[in-house]
Amino acid sequence: MTHSGAKKPLEARKSGALSGRVRVPGDKSISHRALILGAMAVGETQISGLLEGEDVLNTAKSMRALGARVERQGEGAWSVRGVGVAGFAVPEKPLDFGNSGTGCRLAMGAVAGSPIAATFDGDASLRTRPMRRILDPLEQMGARSCNCADGGRLPLVLEGARDPIPIVYRTPVASAQIKSAVLLAGLAAPGTTTVIEKEWSRDHTELMLTHFGAEVSSEADGAHGRKISLKGQPELNGARVVVPADPSSAAFPIVAALVVPNSDIILADVMTNPLRTGLIKTLREMGGQIDELNRRGDAGEPMAELRVRASQLRGVDVPPERAPSMIDEYLVLAVAASFAEGTTRMRGLQELRVKESDRLAATAAMLRVNGVKTEIVGDDMIVEGRGHVPGGGLVATHMDHRIAMSALMMGLASDAPVRIDDMSFIGTSFPDFVPMMRRMGAELS
Ligand code: S3P
Repeated sequence: MTHSGAKKPLEARKSGALSGRVRVPGDKSISHRALILGAMAVGETQISGLLEGEDVLNTAKSMRALGARVERQGEGAWSVRGVGVAGFAVPEKPLDFGNSGTGCRLAMGAVAGSPIAATFDGDASLRTRPMRRILDPLEQMGARSCNCADGGRLPLVLEGARDPIPIVYRTPVASAQIKSAVLLAGLAAPGTTTVIEKEWSRDHTELMLTHFGAEVSSEADGAHGRKISLKGQPELNGARVVVPADPSSAAFPIVAALVVPNSDIILADVMTNPLRTGLIKTLREMGGQIDELNRRGDAGEPMAELRVRASQLRGVDVPPERAPSMIDEYLVLAVAASFAEGTTRMRGLQELRVKESDRLAATAAMLRVNGVKTEIVGDDMIVEGRGHVPGGGLVATHMDHRIAMSALMMGLASDAPVRIDDMSFIGTSFPDFVPMMRRMGAELS
C-alpha cells in the first residue's frame, strides 16, 4: 500500500487528566503470524481480534495471492482456509507488503519452502531495509533470490526450494523476524531445523506453531540466548486464534497516562508475554504505577488488564539485553525519559537504525527539536530528563508510525504543543489511534 497523498500534519497540546477504559487493537506480530500460519495449514483457521491496520491487511492480500482463501467475516473476525505446507500457488502480481518488514520477512520464509517464485516489494521505507539477513539462511536452505538491489533490498524475486534443507542457524542479531523466517521455511524441510539466538526474541512463532500442531522445542542457550528446534513436515492444522491487544500499541497511552498529571486509565486484554514487556518493566523501575489486573491466557499467550496512573518518573539505566523485549518501544520510552527527573541511558540500540526509519537518529531529533538534551554515544541513547519538556517542535516522522505516535504523546504534557509533519502512517499499526486517544481526553487536532 502506498501513501501517495499529501502529508497530513497533526498537533498535540497539553491535556487534562486522561481517563477511561480502552482496548487498543490486536497485536501486530500475532496478526501477521495467524494469517501466514493459517495459509500454510490444512483446514480452516478462525481469527478473532485481528489487527486491521495496513501492514496486516497487506499480509492478508499476499496470502490470498498465494492461493489461500482469506475472508473477513466481521470486525476483527477473519477466516483463512490454507493450502498446506509447501502448497502455495504462483502469485500473478508482485506481493506488496507496504511499510511492513514483519509481513514481508515472514512471508519470505513461508515462500522459501514452496517450489514457486514470487516478487516481493514494499513502499519507499521498506525498500531501504536490509533483506540479506533473511535471504542468507533461506539460501542455505535451498531458496534462491534474484533481481535484488545491493544488500538484498526490495524489490526482489524469491524462488522457493524444491527440496528444502533443514539447517542449524545462528542468527547474527537477535531478531524474531529472522528466527521466524527460518522456522517457517523449515516447515517444508525433512528433519529438524534449529535456530540459535544470542538473546531471546519474541516467541510468538514458536507458540503458534505448537498451537497449530507442529513439534517445537526451546531451551536456554548461554546467559540470555535460546535454541529452538522444529520438526519438519508436520501436520499443520487450522486452529482458532484469539489475538490479544498489542503491548506495542498500548505503550503510547501507557506513557501518556504516566506523564499527563492526574491521569488514571485502564487498558483491556494487553498481551503480557514476558518477551514483550521490557517497557513495562523499565517504566516501573522509573517509578511508573502500572498494575496488572485479571491475568488470563489464550493459546499460550498471557494477557491482563493494565491500570496506569500518572507518576513522578526518574531516570534509569536500561541494559542492552533488554532490547529484544522492547525493541519497538524505545521511542516512547525516550518520551517518558524526557519527563523524568535525571538521566536515562538506553544501551545497545543498534537494531533501531534499520527499522521503519533510522529510529535512533529520528528519536534524538524528535527530542532535541522539543528542547530535550539527547546524545547518541555509540549504540546508546542518553536522555537528560528535567521533569518537564519545553515542546514547540515540528517532528519529522520519516514514514514511521511509531515516531508519529510518540511525538504526539509528548505534546500531551509538554509546555508548548508538539506538531508532526504527517500522521498518515499511524494507520499501518493503529488505525483508531487518534479517536481513541481523544476519547481518553487527549487534545489532538
Ligand atoms: C517483529 C519483530 C521485531 C519488531 C517488529 C515485529 C515480529 O523485529 O521490531 O516490529 O513480529 O517478529 P526484529 O525481530 O527484526 O527485531
